Amino acid sequence: MGDQFEIHPNPHPVARAEREALLANPGFGRVFTDHMVTIKYAEGKGWYDARVEARGPLPLDPATAVLHYAQEIFEGLKAYQLADGGVSLFRADANAARFVDSAQRMAMAPLPPELFLGAIRELVTIDRDWIPGTEEASLYLRPFQIASEVFLGVRPAKEYIFCVIASPVGAYFTGGVKPVSLWVSSEYTRAAPGGTGAAKCGGNYAASLAPMVEAAEKGCDQVVFLDAVERKYVDELGGMNVFLVLDDGTLVTPPLTGTILPGITRDSLMTLARADGRAIEERPISMDEWREGALSGRVVESFACGTAAVVTPIGTIRSEAGDFTIADGGTGPVTDSLRKRILDIQWGRAADPYGWTSRLL
Ligand code: PLP
Ligand code: COI
Repeated sequence: MGDQFEIHPNPHPVARAEREALLANPGFGRVFTDHMVTIKYAEGKGWYDARVEARGPLPLDPATAVLHYAQEIFEGLKAYQLADGGVSLFRADANAARFVDSAQRMAMAPLPPELFLGAIRELVTIDRDWIPGTEEASLYLRPFQIASEVFLGVRPAKEYIFCVIASPVGAYFTGGVKPVSLWVSSEYTRAAPGGTGAAKCGGNYAASLAPMVEAAEKGCDQVVFLDAVERKYVDELGGMNVFLVLDDGTLVTPPLTGTILPGITRDSLMTLARADGRAIEERPISMDEWREGALSGRVVESFACGTAAVVTPIGTIRSEAGDFTIADGGTGPVTDSLRKRILDIQWGRAADPYGWTSRLL
């Protein structure tokens, strides 16, 4: 199919006053816009029937494949309201490329990146009044794809639905940007070598929920997963990558060996830090190195990063082996400056030498 979207505006959009009230304090992921985009796929036919329409339920037969074998992938990216009234996206092409990689890992039909980007452009355009104008709030876009074939055999589906919805969001963690506490899961792992850790598939998140509940019971904001083989090295958090800052200014982050998500924020921060002349090591980080480094002063800061979390300082880490705190448990200067650097580019307040932002409107 060409880049053609049929547009059916929502006949009953949310009234302006109600929308403005919702936008005043949207939280994360609980307010949704008036529209969605859907594109269908069938083997032998390709992608077809691209539509922009009122956001609403997707009718699914109880035998729909995704409900049984979880062939589902998703992405997360944001649209930003610029000071001059324009709207921009940050590295949407990287999300489109990762969506293709995730589809391939899950044996799903890959969506051509131009359709992914076209769908986002259509949704942001029709729902632009839903982009928050307040400081550091944005429109979170959630593209996803499900196996829609009605069939109970275990094999890759021959039919898919791609859909994008949008949600105005503020900070991911309640309480805004303050250091988070982590629980180190010793019972559960997230992804094993050869598994689906590098794909953004719903199943990875389903598996992370029991350890997240455990983390909450321990009074922590997030769970940190260790490698599945030795249970010794830091992989990532439930929805974020991890960095350590050493006392000589070096940034250290776990390598992309297939068990963690190749984060776009992770990649962007490494590019920014490298341009500052900062040394970066992509290598395994053992829990012992993290704990001993925090105690000795070798590890001076730690932070988590991702689209939803941007750059979030890590304060305290709890595990069965005991608790430790990074420095004084506050936000360190490297964390703070990287957070500002990336936000300034995303919001069009700083030059964008890497061509990361694209203006939609
Ligand atoms: N790791 C996981 C498991 C995630 O869900 C995310 C969020 O998307 C990230 C890392 C960070 O990725 P990105 O920076 O592309 O949002
Ligand atoms: C994101 O940062 O976009 C994520 O997908 C993390 C989480 C909300 C699932």
